[in-house]
Amino acid sequence: MKDKKKLLFVCLGNICRSPAAEGIMKHLVEEAGLENDFFIDSAGTSGWHEGELPDSRMRSHAKKRGYDLNSLSRPVRSQDFDNFDMILAMDDTNYTNLMRQAPSPEAESKIYRMTDFCKKKEADHVPDPYYSGADGFEIVLDILEDACSGLLEEIKTKNRGIL
Ligand code: 4NP
Repeated sequence: MKDKKKLLFVCLGNICRSPAAEGIMKHLVEEAGLENDFFIDSAGTSGWHEGELPDSRMRSHAKKRGYDLNSLSRPVRSQDFDNFDMILAMDDTNYTNLMRQAPSPEAESKIYRMTDFCKKKEADHVPDPYYSGADGFEIVLDILEDACSGLLEEIKTKNRGIL
């Protein structure tokens, strides 16, 4: 566990965007044969849906692309800032809330915007799909597939010789 790269994906409810990011990243890491080098989790800035499976719409859109989303929603905890290496916010509100919650400058330095890792998509945030139609969920998956792939490439490059 000590030398694993520990990633925490964060959105508001932890039932749509961040569980999808968790599922996609786990899939990419397994595909690359690197599952023993990573610990991947997700959380919400709110605890509104604590204990719930991801939203059924998110699960069914993800399933069609081969991702099984089975995580249970939980809020971000103060220990997360110690336990994870990178904390990835889906939008600016998530980013601001995480920055407020971060207990130290070192913790703040672990917080990133997910879309900063996009290579193809021009997005500057992952839009909240909760009140959207089917398109909203597809857009989330499109952005997250691009960002997760960019994130994995970045980690592999920076950890050359380790991973
Ligand atoms: P998420 O989406 O932050 O991507 O999990 C949402 C889930 C629930 C709510 C809003 C956004 N909500 O208002 O309950």
